Amino acid sequence: MPRVLVVGGTGLAGRAVTADAVARGHDVVVASRRVPDDDAPGYVTGAVYVAADLVSGAGLEEAVDGADVLIDASNGAGRRAAHVFATGAMNLVQTAARFGVGRAVLLSIAGIDDARYPYYRAKLAQERIHLDSALETRIVRATQFHDFVTAIFERGRRFGTVTAPSGTRFQPIAVDDVARVLVDAAEGAGEPNGIVTIGGPRVESARSLARQWKQASGTRRPVLPVRLTGPLGSAWRAGRNLAPEHALDGLGYDAWLGARD
Ligand SMILES: NC(=O)c1ccc[n+]([C@@H]2O[C@H](COP(=O)([O-])OP(=O)(O)OC[C@H]3O[C@@H](n4cnc5c(N)ncnc54)[C@H](OP(=O)(O)O)[C@@H]3O)[C@@H](O)[C@H]2O)c1
Repeated sequence: MPRVLVVGGTGLAGRAVTADAVARGHDVVVASRRVPDDDAPGYVTGAVYVAADLVSGAGLEEAVDGADVLIDASNGAGRRAAHVFATGAMNLVQTAARFGVGRAVLLSIAGIDDARYPYYRAKLAQERIHLDSALETRIVRATQFHDFVTAIFERGRRFGTVTAPSGTRFQPIAVDDVARVLVDAAEGAGEPNGIVTIGGPRVESARSLARQWKQASGTRRPVLPVRLTGPLGSAWRAGRNLAPEHALDGLGYDAWLGARD
């Protein structure tokens, strides 16, 4: 079986990718700055964990050495994001090419073409670095994760509300469904040097999803419509985050809520 390197494999999406790739019998190496303890939540037995920093390059050669394919599920917060997506991606693809890694799969976000939101622009730059690299590259753009939209609703917690961006719809997707597509791509599915978009099974208003979260979580906090300002708010209200033509027949938000511990 090919050796799969999961960069950012300790993160939300990366953990699901790692679990899927190990379950398929791949030899899996996970790279991130911090190596988790083997009793940490989300630790995948059977994967090998190594410390590597995309931005400084420390540990990167050891991580890519022997890998046949890499899946990049890294992320960065705030201003760090631009470094991880630019400097980090460049370090990654150049080191991987030097060590003979044949294929790369990058996890990106649906609907970011022409974006003005800085984080999305940084993702576009990361995509470009991957596509221009010497590796056979596949980009998988996903709509918002179930966990992500839930985190938006929970931003209202400290104000005693469940916040729902007004005039906004989401097509949330389960990270396990995203992981399956990423590992398929790592195995060679899809067109080389192409971009595929995937979305959750249904487009729903933020208000309806927030109500489902309210009911599932048992909170008495009211759902409060909030108008998001800036380029992210306008992009979402224009529906640029949606990809109904690419809906996967996967786990919907209601079923995901029902399956939570
Ligand atoms: N949230 C969504 O709804 C959504 C939708 C579509 C696509 N995406 C994309 O999916 C990707 C993964 O998102 P996520 O929410 O799963 O991320 P996450 O939970 O924040 O995980 C990020 C991962 O990257 C690692 N990392 C961060 N900085 C690093 C560095 N300098 N060197 C090496 N590893 C580093 C982290 O580990 P350490 O901190 O230990 O290094 C962690 O393993 C992102 O690129 C995001 O844009 C997200």
